[in-house]
Amino acid sequence: MSGQALEALLFPGGSRSWENPELTSLNRLPPRATLTRDPTLRRALDGGWEFRLVGRPEEAPRALGLARGWDTVPVPGLWTMQGYDIPMYTNVQMPFPNPPPTVPEENPTGIYRRTFTLPRDWGSRRVRLHFGGVEGVLHVLVNGRPVGISKDARTPAEFDVTDLVRRRGPNELVAVVVRWSDASFVEDQDQWWHAGISREVALCADDAIADVFVTADADGLLTVAAEGRFEATLLDPSGRAVLTERFRDRLETRVRSPLLWSAEEPALYTLLVSSGDERASCRVGFRTVEIRERRLLVNGEAVMIRGVNRHEHDDLHGRVISREAMETDARLMKQHNVNAVRTSHYPDDPYWLDLCNRYGLYVVDEANIESHAYYDEVCRDSRYAKAFLERTQNMVERDKNHPSVILWSLGNESGYGPNHDATAGWIRSRDPSRPLHYEGAIKFDWNGGHRASDVVCPMYPQLDAIVEWARESDDPRPMILCEYSHAMGNSNGGLSDYFAAFEREGALQGGFIWEWADHGIRRTDSRGREYWAYGGDFGESPHDANFCADGIVWPDRVPHPALAELKFLARPVRVERVAGTRFRISSRDSFASLDRLTGTWELTADGEVVKSGKLPRLRIGPGESLDVELDLPPGSGERFVTFRFFLRAETEWAPAGHEVAWQQLAVPSRARRRSAGRPVPPDEHGALEAAGVRAVVDSKTGMLGELSAGGRNVLVEGPRLQLWRAPTDNDGLRLLPERGSGVLPRWLELGLDRVEQRLESIRVTRTGVEVAHRATGRGRWDDVLHRHAYRMLGSGDVLVENEVRVGPELRDLPRVGVALTLRPGLEQLEWLGRGPWENYSDRLASTVVGRYRSTVTDQYVPYILPQEHGHRGDARWLWLTDEAGSGLVVEGRPTIGFTASHFTTADLYGALHTSDLEPRPEVMLSLDHAQRGLGTASCGPDTSPQYQLNEPVYRFAYVLRVVP
Ligand code: GAL
Ligand code: MG
Repeated sequence: MSGQALEALLFPGGSRSWENPELTSLNRLPPRATLTRDPTLRRALDGGWEFRLVGRPEEAPRALGLARGWDTVPVPGLWTMQGYDIPMYTNVQMPFPNPPPTVPEENPTGIYRRTFTLPRDWGSRRVRLHFGGVEGVLHVLVNGRPVGISKDARTPAEFDVTDLVRRRGPNELVAVVVRWSDASFVEDQDQWWHAGISREVALCADDAIADVFVTADADGLLTVAAEGRFEATLLDPSGRAVLTERFRDRLETRVRSPLLWSAEEPALYTLLVSSGDERASCRVGFRTVEIRERRLLVNGEAVMIRGVNRHEHDDLHGRVISREAMETDARLMKQHNVNAVRTSHYPDDPYWLDLCNRYGLYVVDEANIESHAYYDEVCRDSRYAKAFLERTQNMVERDKNHPSVILWSLGNESGYGPNHDATAGWIRSRDPSRPLHYEGAIKFDWNGGHRASDVVCPMYPQLDAIVEWARESDDPRPMILCEYSHAMGNSNGGLSDYFAAFEREGALQGGFIWEWADHGIRRTDSRGREYWAYGGDFGESPHDANFCADGIVWPDRVPHPALAELKFLARPVRVERVAGTRFRISSRDSFASLDRLTGTWELTADGEVVKSGKLPRLRIGPGESLDVELDLPPGSGERFVTFRFFLRAETEWAPAGHEVAWQQLAVPSRARRRSAGRPVPPDEHGALEAAGVRAVVDSKTGMLGELSAGGRNVLVEGPRLQLWRAPTDNDGLRLLPERGSGVLPRWLELGLDRVEQRLESIRVTRTGVEVAHRATGRGRWDDVLHRHAYRMLGSGDVLVENEVRVGPELRDLPRVGVALTLRPGLEQLEWLGRGPWENYSDRLASTVVGRYRSTVTDQYVPYILPQEHGHRGDARWLWLTDEAGSGLVVEGRPTIGFTASHFTTADLYGALHTSDLEPRPEVMLSLDHAQRGLGTASCGPDTSPQYQLNEPVYRFAYVLRVVP
């Protein structure tokens, strides 16, 4: 009987359910708001279900009748993460060649089965079956009878099964999920393709309160719409009832001076609704969202969007996201001053919105529609019009009560066509309280698309283009970048330039970083080492390699160094020096007072703390400032004042004392005089010697053959000219060669990865040894001339002066500096310079010049695809020592960038995963005069010219000091 019933569902009207875009659902109940309901009216069906997988939907009816061969799997769960079938990663392209709405015949189909009994006390209540989210086309049977079909993978499917269930005794529930379908063409988001039941399954016996629609604005107007007779009570944030009213169908009332909801101060009321013996509740936030004069206003104030895009990804469970995982994300975002999140590219688990309401995050809620592979077709294919509309309705109806949702997004990367205008029209009429967002509508004309988007929300624009638009367009909408600063690998170069533009240009109101988390999947290699898999690692084809590893946190939510830059730029408090010892502390908030923070300051000279103190109470209202006078004693050395700000009290997302912001400012300094002595002449063999230190230039290589003190050589090889770096994802998408993106192809053509150096001359003079090298690559370019001179100073310091001349073919180089290989054991690292995290010329706003300690091993930054990392700019000095304290000191003259590593650039370039790397015992020390900025060219603008290396001549100097 079940087999036949399933047959009927799989082939309604004789055609395949999974290749029929007009069949978006069958018997699914209308979508409705997520409400908190009486737990006795809900029975969870999560847990172990029987499961089997067949190769095609057609095989499912027969398989359903088989007595053997069933496994048990946890639900929610994805069979692609449970070892039955593989996850597949593609970006734009579909994972199969069939045109819409057709799919391959080989089409994995999962059969889930379990039994349930109904609680006795449900009596004769109506019974609904609820699926929170299912990846694939869901077909449901109860007791061998067909129930219905649903296709939108990321909103609930509910079915009325009242007439199919037995009130006593067991019931059988079957869910058959077909992996590929016409719906795949509108779920072509850039992420892993999965299949299975991804969210909760439950039975619900609520009946009287089908749905509630609440709006609450900043003037205190509260409306509650629900069909029937109800009593409503509103509790204020402290739990006190502020009103109780009875109504039929619609309540309209006013709350006097309500506390308002904003991301800064998320005041949440609770609405209790009851009807007969049923009660339900939801959180309510009084707030108004509107667009006026090129500004997005929340409660009348323009709010800067410091946002991120978040996909649902878990490195062990795929798109099954636990509450703890969501809490981690929300907490981390708040701790890093993120104030907005776009639910790219579908409605998230509703608990995510609860967290956004509670912690305070503005949400752009996005419909589950992306037809990237058939960008211009599907949006004007009338067979898909219903799918567009239904997916939009599923989102709006489910999420309409959440105050955190401030914009509705019509979807992502689906062109712009009549199907969009249909959905836009529907939302405008159903929920006029929120503006619309749709990138496709403005893609080709930033002044167009008004029907479908109330914000101009481009992705990855050039900075000068948005500034020009802000200054020249008279479009009445604000610009909020829906995606920018692509965080793939070592990235987010130039973020501070975007923030500067957002703060300067009124019509630019921030944006959303792409993206929150790397989508790596945790696996173990043959040697037992864990790694994060990306496209292709499951043997799938086609695939888009590591393009899914583009988050600002790793899959386990450890932040990339770039998140510190975002946190700094998004900080709510700024400090500037007004004059002398007077500093101005200003607020960047729109609603909250800075009095929630306490502040400290610290004066350092050459990295040593000279004096520190506490700031007065920060009674600074939104947008206001306070001047403070610091007692800075005079003194010598390079001096900075560093301010730090901490939470005074615990919040939902961080403990008291959590650091919210910091900022370092230079104050007038008098450099200390160094006296290292005059150059000592070399001996007759050209050896340099003073104060027990010996430096000998090898006459064959022109490099230092020896650099020793007390007979102990610290150097294995070098210094050698270094123009190359292990390419970042932004330098070139090296696992996706067909894209030919970035500067990498040119660098490889020039042969910068294999530069050979040839000794041209060694000249021994009275003041030292002068060496000239010529370097060549594979490409056609004039030799690079590297002149360097070694001067032994009386103190034993070796001063190395460098000049690098490059021909006109060698513009936009990866780096200019030297590489040294140091003897094993020099593991301890200390430096005075920018830190603590890795930094590059276009990602250093957040750094503080200070003294830091680390180890060479800890300098490794495990980007999912190994690449350039760990650079520290503007070091005044650095120490590399062994356990006994002997080793090498390098001083910049005046500063030098460096990277200390156990890997060569070739090791990094050759590895596909961090787990492939074998650390070498030696220390690879790169001393960089300059390194190309990071940019974001893996998707978006390249490194801007001011962070490129375009000079004909580079001069720099550093000192090597051996510590015996
Ligand atoms: C955008 C798209 C995102 C993602 C990103 C690149 O075009 O909306 O989903 O693909 O590019 O990582
Ligand atoms: Mg896409």
